[in-house]
Amino acid sequence: ESNSLISDFVSSLSVETQTLQNQIDELSTFSDSPAPSVTRILYSEKDVLARRYIKNLMGLAGLSVREDAVGNIFGRWIGDEPELPPVATGSHIDAIPYSGKYDGVIGVLGAIEAINVLKRSGFKPKRSLEVIMFTSEEPTRFGISCLGSRLLAGIETLANNLKSTVDGQNISFLDAARSAGYANDQDDLSSVFLKKGSYSAFIELHIEQGPILEEEGISIGVVTAIAAPASITVDFEGNGGHAGAALMPTRNDAGLAAAELALAVEKHVLESGSIDTVGTVGILELHPGAINSIPSRSHLEIDTRDIDEKRRNTVIEKTHQSATTIANKRRVKLSEFKIINQDPPALSDKLIIEAAEAASKELNLTYKKMISRAYHDSLFMARISPMGMIFIPCYKGYSHKPEEFSSREDITNGVKVLALALAKLSLN
Ligand code: GLV
Ligand code: MN
Ligand code: MN
Ligand code: MN
Repeated sequence: ESNSLISDFVSSLSVETQTLQNQIDELSTFSDSPAPSVTRILYSEKDVLARRYIKNLMGLAGLSVREDAVGNIFGRWIGDEPELPPVATGSHIDAIPYSGKYDGVIGVLGAIEAINVLKRSGFKPKRSLEVIMFTSEEPTRFGISCLGSRLLAGIETLANNLKSTVDGQNISFLDAARSAGYANDQDDLSSVFLKKGSYSAFIELHIEQGPILEEEGISIGVVTAIAAPASITVDFEGNGGHAGAALMPTRNDAGLAAAELALAVEKHVLESGSIDTVGTVGILELHPGAINSIPSRSHLEIDTRDIDEKRRNTVIEKTHQSATTIANKRRVKLSEFKIINQDPPALSDKLIIEAAEAASKELNLTYKKMISRAYHDSLFMARISPMGMIFIPCYKGYSHKPEEFSSREDITNGVKVLALALAKLSLN
């Protein structure tokens, strides 16, 4: 009896795949780089247009929409017991330079479609269901990742730091936020903080950004933990000078110090002996940036992660020692070694893992439990809510580049699993 009720409900779930694909394609046109790449930077004109697009879709889905002071967007479907903490889902739509159109986007457009799926099926939520579009999961503009979700989790030091944070063009965070219509009459961002227990569950749908599901021919990844990310900025300063006239023994080349540190990061990562330790120097800038001028300043940004927090911290310590040693040896000044973030990993909640597993089973989809090596807003939502994630396969594991792709079938599966898991969690 209850089994046939479940199977009737499950077979009533239908995703409007073509509509969803059209939305993914349309959203990707709000970009500052040519297709197929996507570049959508926080509070830019394209970001504001994309936000409007999302709010419109939330409205069309019958959600009541609210935005906070930094532009986290919330669309709520009021449940039969609106006083209970809601179940939330969501992700981000900002895109790093020259990336693709699925990272984050699947977890926002797919979540709105999951709501539509449930509405079409006649489902009535007990707990309210809420779709969240998080502000700036990517660190592109202000250097800090998961800006919106960190604030939701109540990180006060970030709320304070943002008062004096500027971007690469020296535009302050608050001015940028205001230009996009946020943070209007306040400098105090603590209004964004949510209390622990504001949600009974948070579950994020995302492309895997790795190759495992595709290689193994598995439809769904149920995430059990998110690896621990850290990022560091480093500046070296030397005397610079003429590339022809200044002789080698007299030089203190800030660019070579940066090059040496980049190689040191790779060495320290490999020394961990674990395939799970990774490190990347994704930004390396030289000043003044002329072929015939010895770099007088260099700037590096280092990203390092591991599923083992201690091992990741060892990489950070060794990198710091190397920066000091290199500066001494090359007689340059280590003018900054700043740890921007050094986050612990997060564990998924057992009940949410079980809901995602049960949903996959009932939909006859193959699934496996796995770790997320990328970070997500879920890493911070886990601080205020039980958290879980659903992964879908993506082509060759590609992400953060234009070739990023997930098939319609995989997206449809992910949206169905999300819809069914939301329904279960809503009745909990
Ligand atoms: C998120 O985009 C990440 O870098 O993991
Ligand atoms: Mn990303
Ligand atoms: Mn993402
Ligand atoms: Mn991410």
